[in-house]
Amino acid sequence: MEFIDEALIEYAIKNSSEESDLLKILRKETNQKILHPRMLSSTIQGRFLSFISKLIMPKNILEIGTYTGYGTLCLSEGLQKNGKIHTIEINEELKDFQNHFFRQSDKKNQINQHVGNAMYIIEQINEEFDIVFLDADKSNYVNYMNLIVPRLKKGGVLISDNVLWSGKVLQKPEKNDLDTKALQKFNTTLKNHSELETILLPIRDGLSLSRKL
Ligand SMILES: C[S@@+](CC[C@H](N)C(=O)[O-])C[C@H]1O[C@@H](n2cnc3c(N)ncnc32)[C@H](O)[C@@H]1O
Repeated sequence: MEFIDEALIEYAIKNSSEESDLLKILRKETNQKILHPRMLSSTIQGRFLSFISKLIMPKNILEIGTYTGYGTLCLSEGLQKNGKIHTIEINEELKDFQNHFFRQSDKKNQINQHVGNAMYIIEQINEEFDIVFLDADKSNYVNYMNLIVPRLKKGGVLISDNVLWSGKVLQKPEKNDLDTKALQKFNTTLKNHSELETILLPIRDGLSLSRKL
């Protein structure tokens, strides 16, 4: 979901630094070959993830929800030389597609792919993180936050996607709309978290940045 006029988004893309050819091909092939291409991060969001990563120069990144690996490659652009990005995807059928593109990246040796439910895999990754990108399993966002905050370094940033949920966060959710309820709870919990400073940006479907104090 985009809240801004298509023409303005095109203008913003035209006046921002370009994504790599590898990312362009990944976007095209995801749209042609993979189910639910709407899950892919947008071009502007990808450039934003890359920019934040280059500012922070992370040693360790965690991404929850790899999908076809677009966000992984964008975030990897700012990694330190010996840094690592751990990315978790529950759908193992996406692994070959991800690998095809990861192999072509100059960060290929810094990407650790994990297949399985992030809720369990996170506990097996023995690292503290400079950046966490939360982009899967909306109904569990508060649970992920509780798992992640203790593992975030001081000054580290949690980036949470889809926090405006196509605008549904403004409405009273239907009884069985668990995702909207979960995101409403997540947004207020983040805002009031004593260890986090948060800004909710109306980029695409809503992107929250939370810095650990
Ligand atoms: C919105 S997509 C991720 C998009 C990607 N981060 C990007 O920037 O292009 C969400 C992905 O999370 C995966 N997913 C859903 N529940 C999950 C879980 N519990 N653990 C790990 N991955 C999960 C889905 O299969 C899907 O591929």
